[in-house]
Amino acid sequence: MAGEALGTALRLVTLLGRPLLLEGPAGVGKTEAAKTLADVLGTRLIRLQCYEGLDAQAALYEWNYARQLLHLRRAEATGREPSDAELYGENFLMRRPLLQAISEDVPPVLLIDEVDRADDAFEAFLLELLAEWQVTVPELGTITARTRPHVVLTSNRARELSDALRRRCLYHWVEYPSRAQELEIVRARLPEVTAALAAGVTRAVHALRELPLGKPPGVAETLDWARALSVLGYETLDAHALHTTLGAVLKLREDAQLAAPLLERQLARPE
Ligand SMILES: Nc1ncnc2c1ncn2[C@@H]1O[C@H](COP(=O)(O)OP(=O)(O)O)[C@@H](O)[C@H]1O
Ligand SMILES: [Mg+2]
Repeated sequence: MAGEALGTALRLVTLLGRPLLLEGPAGVGKTEAAKTLADVLGTRLIRLQCYEGLDAQAALYEWNYARQLLHLRRAEATGREPSDAELYGENFLMRRPLLQAISEDVPPVLLIDEVDRADDAFEAFLLELLAEWQVTVPELGTITARTRPHVVLTSNRARELSDALRRRCLYHWVEYPSRAQELEIVRARLPEVTAALAAGVTRAVHALRELPLGKPPGVAETLDWARALSVLGYETLDAHALHTTLGAVLKLREDAQLAAPLLERQLARPE
C-alpha cells in the first residue's frame, strides 16, 4: 500500500468513524485502498459502483418480483390471498449495497465508488444517510443501522462534489506512486516478470506521465503492459517490444504518436 499519509487517512476512518473521500486520477489505486482496508480489518467489503442515473432506491433494495409472484400463485392455488405484509416481507427483500451495509452485524467497509458519476440528487441522499444512518423503505418502515460501516468514497473528479459532502468526509488526494513504489507493486503482483522488464516498464510509464497525454496511464496500465510483454516472452523493454505492445499502456492514437519517439529516445539512454 503506497503512502504513509494514505495509510493514516485509512486509520482515521476507523478511529474517528468518519467517511474518507479519496480523489485522484484514474488507476492510482483508490478502489484498491478500500479493498486493502477491508483486508486489514478482516471485514467484508461492500461496494456500490455509482453511475449516471443511479437513484437511492436502486442503491438500497429491490423486491424479488419473481419470488413474490410464485408465492402469490401458490397461495392462490390453495384459495388464499396473501397479505401485503407477507408479500413485502424480509423474505422477498433483496438488499442492495447501501441497505446491506447497514444490516451487517460486523461493520463492513462500504465503498461508494466513483461517486462523481452519480448526480446531485443522489449525493444529497448520501449525505443524509451518512448523517442519520437510517433509511426508509416504504413497505417496511424506517431501518436504522445495526452498526456503522467504515465508509470510503472515491472520485475521479469528473464532476465537482458538493461542499457539504466534502465537509462531512476526511479527504485524501491519491497521487501516482513513486517509481520505486510502482516497481515494488509490479514485482509483487507479477513475479513472472523479470526484474529488468519491470524496471524498464516502470521507467517508461513514469516518463509517459510527464507528457501532456489525453489518457495518462494508471497503475492498471503499468501492470497490463508488463503482463503483455512478459507473455510475449520479452525480458527487457527494447524498441521492438515497445512498438508491438504500446497499445497495452496508451489507449489514444494521438497519445501513442506523441509518446513513441520520446520513449524510443529514452530507451537509447542509460539510466
Ligand atoms: N498501491 C497499489 N498496490 C497494489 N496494486 C495497486 C496499487 N494501486 C493500484 N493498484 C492496481 O492498479 C489497478 C488500478 O487500481 P484501482 O484501485 O482500480 O484504481 P482507481 O480506483 O484509482 O481508478 C488495480 O488492478 C490495482 O490492483
Ligand atoms: Mg476505482
